[in-house]
Amino acid sequence: MATPISRSRIGGSKKYLLYFANHHTEFRTSELVALAEMFGIEPPLKDLELLDQECPFFIQQFSSEAEAKMLANRSVLIKFVVELWGHGNTYEDLIESLRNSHDSVVPYLSDKASFKIVVDGFNKSLPQKYKIETIERLTERALPFTGKIDLKKPDHLYYLLEDYGKQKKNAESLPQHVYFGRWVADGNRNEIQNQRINKRSFIGNTSMESSLSLLMANLSKVQKNMLVIDPFVGTGSILVPCAYHHAYVMGTDINYLLLHAKAKPSRSKQKTRSPDESIRNNLAQYGLEAYYCDIMVADASRHSMWRTSEIFDAIITDPPYGIREGAKKVGKEEELVLLTPDQRVDHIPQKVDYDLSNIFNDLLNFAYKFLRTGGRLTYWFPVHRAAYKEENIPHHPCMKLVSNCEQVLNIRISRRLITMQKVQPYREDQNLASQTHVDHYLNASFREMYFKVTENPQKSLKSEGNSQHIKKPP
Ligand SMILES: C[S@@+](CC[C@H](N)C(=O)[O-])C[C@H]1O[C@@H](n2cnc3c(N)ncnc32)[C@H](O)[C@@H]1O
Repeated sequence: MATPISRSRIGGSKKYLLYFANHHTEFRTSELVALAEMFGIEPPLKDLELLDQECPFFIQQFSSEAEAKMLANRSVLIKFVVELWGHGNTYEDLIESLRNSHDSVVPYLSDKASFKIVVDGFNKSLPQKYKIETIERLTERALPFTGKIDLKKPDHLYYLLEDYGKQKKNAESLPQHVYFGRWVADGNRNEIQNQRINKRSFIGNTSMESSLSLLMANLSKVQKNMLVIDPFVGTGSILVPCAYHHAYVMGTDINYLLLHAKAKPSRSKQKTRSPDESIRNNLAQYGLEAYYCDIMVADASRHSMWRTSEIFDAIITDPPYGIREGAKKVGKEEELVLLTPDQRVDHIPQKVDYDLSNIFNDLLNFAYKFLRTGGRLTYWFPVHRAAYKEENIPHHPCMKLVSNCEQVLNIRISRRLITMQKVQPYREDQNLASQTHVDHYLNASFREMYFKVTENPQKSLKSEGNSQHIKKPP
């Protein structure tokens, strides 16, 4: 991994504009920081505080164009990055700013290079006539390009971006801010389409959508040759982006029928599952079978099945919250009766309910034992929004909380995407264990809370707003 770039090098750097997609806005900062760290780019954290969920534009300095490209190419939340030549609250400000960017602009004015300018408005669709007139005015006053216009395969692509903010708009509304820059790189959003779960043969009711699985892999900084496990693997949707980043993947799940493609199909028109539905074949569909290690029918709460060594580089998972499927673990309500060797052959162990606090304690303890020091654990943690407090997040003395972002599921329930980093190696002689204190897990089942109808949803929505990360409920 590259070493972080010092602040003095940042001083000589150029400005770039990151244009974010207007989707999963609450995860922007976490993804940006994780990727910057992964590529050894020092994120200027002071500026990151300005990264706003409402505004898709963010100006960032990089010491080289290569850094901006690396970051964009891996991000699933960035649409594209431009080298910022100028910006301002009005077109007059923009023109002034472009005139001051002489060093950036001049190398691109040559008559040998063809070009194209794209105009895009955030929060307002712009008529074609307006776009053409605006380009003409701007090039006349501040950008004397001499090359040919080529709309299909230009040598250089430029963006003129107008931000109309969240204000109420009419045809006469003016942009609140305008940016102009040279395209540098696209984000990795095409991969969201390529990995869409409805194109996959083996899926289930709780398969994770591709944008979130890709995001989880980014938060855990998954890279080539890593070993990644999903202990609640289900149909393996989280493993796909990890294998796509050339990590080796494996998983466990307690559901024998699901893993053997014998469970009820989740597609409404499908009567029975096809025997070739499997996680291995899902990876093969993307040419990623080489990264498949194995999937085991196993109970994630039983850590003693693993030899104690810190073998995993990342643990990424979506544990059961008892909404669509009940959370279970192997166990017996009554006294354990020892089985004879013959009885054990096709014995299916009994299961008992697996309460939510224990699921998360077991997960953190698993990470403490089997994750390499410095490795990351990324998981979803469901909460009742009104009752949620930061102290609810599971904690373990050797797992440092790195990021915590909320995704609202309905007006009462949200799930938080938690990323933790293991900061100390496992020591057998130390009795260190995870703790999870969530009062609202105790009395009602999460399923009941999820489906409960509130008398006045508007009122409860207002009183439940508890984080700057909250997005509007569906
Ligand atoms: C939310 S789903 C995960 C879905 C998965 N991300 C996917 O892409 O299909 C949770 C999974 O945990 C499994 N599970 C429940 N209890 C378990 C346990 N004790 N050990 C291992 N897996 C368990 C369930 O069978 C279910 O497949």
